[in-house]
Amino acid sequence: MREWEKGEYLSKFSIEKLVSSDILRIRPYIPGKPVEEVKRELGLKKVIKLASNENSLGPSPKAVEAIKNYAFRIHLYPDGAGYYLRKSLAKKFKLDKENIILGNGSDEIVSLLTRFFIQKGDQVIMGDPSFLMYKIDTQLSGGKVIPIPLKNFKLNISEMLRSITPQTKIIFIANPNNPTGTIVRKKEVEDLFKFLPSSILIIFDEAYCEYVEDPDYPQTLEWVRKGKNLIILRTFSKIYGLAGLRIGYGIAKKEIIDILNRARPPFNVNSLAQIAALASLSDIEHLHRSKKLVKEGKKFLYHSLKEMEIPFVPTQTNFILIRTGEKTKEIVDELLKRGIIVRGMESYNLPQYIRLTIGTQEENETFIRELKSILFSS
Ligand SMILES: Cc1ncc(COP(=O)(O)O)c(C=O)c1O
Repeated sequence: MREWEKGEYLSKFSIEKLVSSDILRIRPYIPGKPVEEVKRELGLKKVIKLASNENSLGPSPKAVEAIKNYAFRIHLYPDGAGYYLRKSLAKKFKLDKENIILGNGSDEIVSLLTRFFIQKGDQVIMGDPSFLMYKIDTQLSGGKVIPIPLKNFKLNISEMLRSITPQTKIIFIANPNNPTGTIVRKKEVEDLFKFLPSSILIIFDEAYCEYVEDPDYPQTLEWVRKGKNLIILRTFSKIYGLAGLRIGYGIAKKEIIDILNRARPPFNVNSLAQIAALASLSDIEHLHRSKKLVKEGKKFLYHSLKEMEIPFVPTQTNFILIRTGEKTKEIVDELLKRGIIVRGMESYNLPQYIRLTIGTQEENETFIRELKSILFSS
């Protein structure tokens, strides 16, 4: 019997020795629990999930119809080039389809970017806290995370600029930022491009851009048209209500998209996602209804939270960061027992905060009622 065929040979190795220390240092992303699981665990009939910033209205009916019509063709591989969707997005943004890449969620494009643009020892600047996947993907590529603390819950662009070194390769700008819901303004983006060395790529993650009401929100597409080193990431997971299908896209100059396409998995975006995204793009009414729901929900929640003297961060998105204080963990657990899933912000280093997705009016009222009862009746 050869050495490796004896069980002992394998037992001499521990899993830790098979992977790099960079991987072992990664703290995994912990997604919220699915509704059905919470119902089963806690024996609840009704559970509302306000934890992952999904669209509480659901998907566009046009998307659902398109999926039904396409279902009998799922034995075929998807269109690996995403021809029709890229064409439609290019038309919407007055660019060419070569300026667009589709991803299995915008998540996938973040991981393609870090995989191709980061080498061991390269530095990646990002807000702290900001969307957790930036850090995980940077570490996976052997890059060094340079976290820049937020200032008044906003990304601190001037500090980001000051932190640039010859090793800096990427700057992540979540605009609006998750978990704070705040934005970086036009002037700050102008400054960024004024002082930025040409060897750095900026990733503008605009997952929630459709909800932004502030007129000073930058039109980053103009910078793509000017040929700058940036990529804009957008998603169908949020306002378009297709989170379960996994589809997002990136917009950049052709050279950047070309690099990403070199090792993109050939069928990374499935047919139903492409078909549903295409149908959603044409459903302007669903888009308006979704925006209106959030605008009105925001008004109600702001008013109720102020009345209860609970501090919160004004948001440009479909979620709100709320300061629930030292008892946050107990509050999150108690809300869960009452059938409301919200996100405690411990993993974002904000242990005294929760992040609440703005729901339907009924969901928002239930949240406020239960929060009031937890905080004020004892
Ligand atoms: C800022 C930000 N970017 C990206 C994503 C992920 O989007 P997708 O579902 O397209 O992967 C999220 C999801 O919560 C997010 O908050």
